[in-house]
Amino acid sequence: MKTTISQASNHEDQTVTIGVWLANKRSSGKIAFLQLRDGTGFMQGVVAKGDVSEKTFELAKNMNQESSMYITGKIVEDTRSPFGYEMQVSAIELIHEATDYPITPKEHGTEFLMDHRHLWLRSKRQHAVMKIRNEIIRATYQFFNVNGYVKIDPPILTGSSAEGTTELFHTKYFDEEAYLSQSGQLYMEAAAMAFGKVFSFGPTFRAEKSKTRRHLIEFWMIEPEMAFVDHEESLEIQEQYVSSIVQSVLENCKLELNVLERDITQLEKIQTPFPRISYDDAVEFLKEKGFTDIEWGEDFGAPHETAIAESFDKPVFITNYPAEIKAFYMKPHPTQSDVVLCADLIAPEGYGEIIGGSQRIDDLALMQKRYEQHNLTGPAYEWYLELRKYGSVPHSGFGLGLERTVAWLSGVDHVRETIPFPRLLNRLYP
Ligand code: 4AD
Ligand code: MG
Repeated sequence: MKTTISQASNHEDQTVTIGVWLANKRSSGKIAFLQLRDGTGFMQGVVAKGDVSEKTFELAKNMNQESSMYITGKIVEDTRSPFGYEMQVSAIELIHEATDYPITPKEHGTEFLMDHRHLWLRSKRQHAVMKIRNEIIRATYQFFNVNGYVKIDPPILTGSSAEGTTELFHTKYFDEEAYLSQSGQLYMEAAAMAFGKVFSFGPTFRAEKSKTRRHLIEFWMIEPEMAFVDHEESLEIQEQYVSSIVQSVLENCKLELNVLERDITQLEKIQTPFPRISYDDAVEFLKEKGFTDIEWGEDFGAPHETAIAESFDKPVFITNYPAEIKAFYMKPHPTQSDVVLCADLIAPEGYGEIIGGSQRIDDLALMQKRYEQHNLTGPAYEWYLELRKYGSVPHSGFGLGLERTVAWLSGVDHVRETIPFPRLLNRLYP
């Protein structure tokens, strides 16, 4: 009977066949231990000289890493492995013999591994990170579906900029100028006026010359947008959403978290409500902590965010930033006109900003004024103003960066390991 490693536990004491690759092996005169993977998981196959033909034993002993085969044997409990089962191999049908697989079990440098990303994805650690990414995506759809949101897909080719013009990828759209989307937000606002509560999930592009462990050129964002929801209500949705994905990963990715040696006690603390600190208080706090360089009106850098996050063991909202350093669409605070109704959510353990969100300006005249101040001219922006002309309502939304969230939950240092094929400042290959 044909099955998979993930299903092996349902076949205890039965003889099954699984299509696998050889991840690693060790052998002595009488026994070979094959580390097998099939995409669904990793499992050990034990080939004992007395149990198989001479030819099969020789094959098992001499097979190269990443060779593919159909392997047949009995599934038995293996209490020493976290997976819990192994196979007592009775037959091997070689499909393809691999030669000189470049990623050996020894240590390799990061650049070498990045150059071989198409193969590196097969490794146990990368497999675990991608499974966690998949679980976050699954839990995201579940959270928003259960709560009555409609999934809406904004365009990727656009004629307008959502987050300022400096980080746009330009392209030609026949005879017109076009950009790759930095954020679907403006379109999601239109969608919220049509469907009430909406969310998107898609790739976004930033031509940012940043080379940090938190920046990708192409990254995936989840962008919910809600009509009739103010800033405070949006913060509650954000904390519920983030804690729900953390709980899903804890529940459904135990093996993966174990492979990554993630300290899950840190993740178990992620329950609502999350702490909030205003930008004003954050500046005072940083000055007290000895950051003499920071002045009111300046944006925070990674060290500032980390210092603030370190005083909490949950994600923390930094609210109400100065209007000057935030996007044109954010609604001014009702009593403090130089700050806006927004928040960045900073992950614990130094993983930085995972969410940027705000209440949006719903007043036509004020939005027109912002257009002038930000030099947003031309027909590409007109449709967005019309949303304020026909039944404008208070509305809020936010964007969660998937890769930074994967990095945080997986406990990996750099976002390059959190997306299958990272696009970095100096990398478009593979
Ligand atoms: O804070 P940002 O720029 O917000 C927006 O784009 C809003 N329009 C979202 C909205 O309100 N609908 O980006 C949102 C999040 C950040 O908090 C961060 O997690 C992630 O996207 N992000 C990046 N992730 C990886 N690499 C980059 N270069 C990123 N830039 C932003
Ligand atoms: Mg931001």
